[in-house]
Amino acid sequence: MSFSILLLSAIQLLSSFCPVTCGYNHAKADDASQLRVYIVHVLPPSNAPNAGPTDLESYYKSFLPDSISESGETRLIYSYSEVLSGFAAKLTQDEVDSMAKNPGFVRAYPDMLIPLLTTHTPDFLGLHQGRGLWQPSGLGKGVIIGVLDTGLHATHPSFNDDGVPPPPSKWKGSCEFPAGCNNKLIGAKTFNNSGSGAPDDGDGHGTHTASTAAGNFVQRVESFGLASGTSAGMAPHAHLAIYKVCGPAGCSTSDVLAGLDEAVKDGVDVLSLSLGGSSVPFYLDPIAIGAFGATEKGILVTCAAGNSGPSDSTLSNEAPWILTVAASSVDRNFRSIVTLGNGEKLYGESLNQPKSFKPSSLPLVYPNEGACTVDFANIFGKVVLCDADVDEYGVTASIKDAGGAAVIFLNDNSSAYSIVLRDLEFPSPKLTYEDASKVKRYVNTTRNPTASITFNGTILGVSPAPVVAYFSSRGPSTATPGILKPDISGPGLNIMAAWPVQPETGENGTKTFNIISGTSMATPHLSGIAALIKSAHPDWSPAAIKSAIMTTSYVVGDNRKPIPDEQHLPASFFAMGAGHVNPSNAADPGLIYDLDVDDYIRYLCGLYNGALVDRNVGGVIRRRISCSKFGSISEAELNYPSLVLPPGSTVNRTVTNVGKANDVYRVEVEAPKGAKVTVTPATLTFSKVKEKKTFTVRVTGGKSGLAGNLRWISGRHVVRSPIVIVGDAKDL
Ligand SMILES: *[C@@H]1O[C@H](CO)[C@@H](O)[C@H](O)[C@H]1NC(C)=O
Ligand SMILES: *[C@@H]1O[C@H](CO)[C@@H](O)[C@H](O)[C@H]1NC(C)=O
Ligand SMILES: *[C@@H]1O[C@H](CO)[C@@H](O)[C@H](O)[C@H]1NC(C)=O
Ligand SMILES: *[C@@H]1O[C@H](CO)[C@@H](O)[C@H](O)[C@H]1NC(C)=O
Ligand SMILES: *[C@@H]1O[C@H](CO)[C@@H](O)[C@H](O)[C@H]1NC(C)=O
Ligand SMILES: *[C@@H]1O[C@H](CO)[C@@H](O)[C@H](O)[C@H]1NC(C)=O
Repeated sequence: MSFSILLLSAIQLLSSFCPVTCGYNHAKADDASQLRVYIVHVLPPSNAPNAGPTDLESYYKSFLPDSISESGETRLIYSYSEVLSGFAAKLTQDEVDSMAKNPGFVRAYPDMLIPLLTTHTPDFLGLHQGRGLWQPSGLGKGVIIGVLDTGLHATHPSFNDDGVPPPPSKWKGSCEFPAGCNNKLIGAKTFNNSGSGAPDDGDGHGTHTASTAAGNFVQRVESFGLASGTSAGMAPHAHLAIYKVCGPAGCSTSDVLAGLDEAVKDGVDVLSLSLGGSSVPFYLDPIAIGAFGATEKGILVTCAAGNSGPSDSTLSNEAPWILTVAASSVDRNFRSIVTLGNGEKLYGESLNQPKSFKPSSLPLVYPNEGACTVDFANIFGKVVLCDADVDEYGVTASIKDAGGAAVIFLNDNSSAYSIVLRDLEFPSPKLTYEDASKVKRYVNTTRNPTASITFNGTILGVSPAPVVAYFSSRGPSTATPGILKPDISGPGLNIMAAWPVQPETGENGTKTFNIISGTSMATPHLSGIAALIKSAHPDWSPAAIKSAIMTTSYVVGDNRKPIPDEQHLPASFFAMGAGHVNPSNAADPGLIYDLDVDDYIRYLCGLYNGALVDRNVGGVIRRRISCSKFGSISEAELNYPSLVLPPGSTVNRTVTNVGKANDVYRVEVEAPKGAKVTVTPATLTFSKVKEKKTFTVRVTGGKSGLAGNLRWISGRHVVRSPIVIVGDAKDL
């Protein structure tokens, strides 16, 4: 597995519901007198709801036993003001236990690591210079994208500022690079509770994601001699603000919260987070909490859906105020053809395509049924078959040492048609599960099996495309089953983008662009596209931008068939979200499903409707709340652009006209099989821009899991919302 995917699949966060003294009970095995970093949630100061940062800091300090521990360490690490009511501090468990007696205490848990979730893409998405969404948005001019990641390789050519104006006056951030920043890279800061240093990217992940979102134009880019062309991010003239909150091991909760807090203060417009833990209730989820604070300030937060697919209910970052991004393929292959001794040709892919490799017939071996863990004594000059997702780097190194000619990696039934490429610096084609089965059958039935390999470079126009990648995490959501998640899919398989120059690796010592995979790579595509929309419509709320992206997405692929998943079966909405992003249409959606902070609060009051509801909702929204006074709604009633409906339910939705003043929309329902969906009224007539109209959706019958679509159609717009039935009719 590639680095980024590995990091995501190793996720561990708080896993169970814990009401008050959450989290730290899990650490009982540790020495209760050992000092460690805790995140502490507290009630906001009651007498000063609008306390400034200094007041807050002294309030937070009042929870601490002293400002310096016995061992001489400063207790308070971060004092949060924008996105969390609370702080990060060095404490022992015993000290947390006694702090819990303070009436303002809500909960505390130890700092944890959140994993990172790890180009041609502009063309594939219909972005071309001089037309498409790049036209009305001025390439993202004036919009600031904040990226929380592993830092940035600031001298990379993708971060040149040709054509980028100075940052808007609202920008308050600063630059910690000794060499300073420029109009493209307007700010950069490090948040590391156990160290310090410039926000340099020692990893590559942060440089890759930032350049995907907003890299400027770079001519004649290639990697591995493949994929040559002009490189650009989604919003080539947007500004970048970098918050280094992750290191090689992952990103600590306290640092992520500090980065979010700072980004909100600095004045970013869009946030991009290619990281995430496993599903927990939102009041225990630092990204959900931090994203709520950002949303309240008008910032759209885009997050990776996770790399734990293809199993169900494997999502990260599920809150409805977050744009949750799934990963799919693009129409590009790095083709490598394996011709078996019987003449059968199998079309695989490889990043390493040595020109010196001779396409002659070579003996083919299949050591311990693909496990490739035994000795490689007898493989000199042979082609070795190995299962994909063994330690591909380690196995390849052993085969190289033993004088093997090449390795062919074989997908299993879970990765199926998704080929995830890795830089193995060795001839290493990888085959789909279907082709892997053919090779295995051939080897099994042939006395002296042989194969020859040719490398055929970059192929465009590959069909089908897009295809949801096997690793992309799937719904239904665990944290909020009544909201359809993920929200959207974008390119995340074998994506080329900027990479720090690492003299010890790469061809002839320079790898300034690299090809990697993950929902980490899909996320900055969406944050860049969100920046383009924000640039074209500066007054749109985060929910409006989300709605525009979701309702204009597409579900039919290049071959006029439904977008498939890794098995080449029609992808469900729980795999691809509402559909695949269509940037050109997203700037002109016609209607939007808007939401404000009060809507989210009523939703939270409904979601946590139990004894601790006020405490749990308060933990997310950073203020004291009485849900019984404020009111609550069910998940289905949230004015979300997609619908998860129990059979027999009736919900309202309200749309806002953002197209031309006078327009008429009529409804078209593609009901889930066996269900009847009635929409009233069936026609919506608008006479003003920003006019709102409410309609009612009633569902009867239908079986859990079946899906359909609701479309509002006018002369120039189609506004599509997916409908998924959950629960069975007999429950009613
Ligand atoms: C923080 O700094 C420490 C000490 O320099 C370093 O070991 C660690 O990797 C850094 N962590 C991050 C997330 O950068
Ligand atoms: C492969 O996985 C799919 C989806 O889980 C399943 O339907 C199919 O039966 C599996 N095929 C084989 C050969 O195991
Ligand atoms: C190869 O042959 C063996 C023995 O005939 C059989 O058990 C095995 O399932 C076969 N494997 C494949 C992949 O066909
Ligand atoms: C693949 O490349 C080889 C030479 O490396 C060439 O002979 C062959 O025609 C190519 N095949 C395709 C399908 O492009
Ligand atoms: C690497 O350098 C060698 C020697 O200068 C040259 O022949 C070769 O083409 C270079 N390879 C690439 C990919 O640039
Ligand atoms: C839905 O809208 C209709 C018509 O505007 C209204 O009468 C009804 O009370 C609404 N229902 C809900 C559940 O809000």
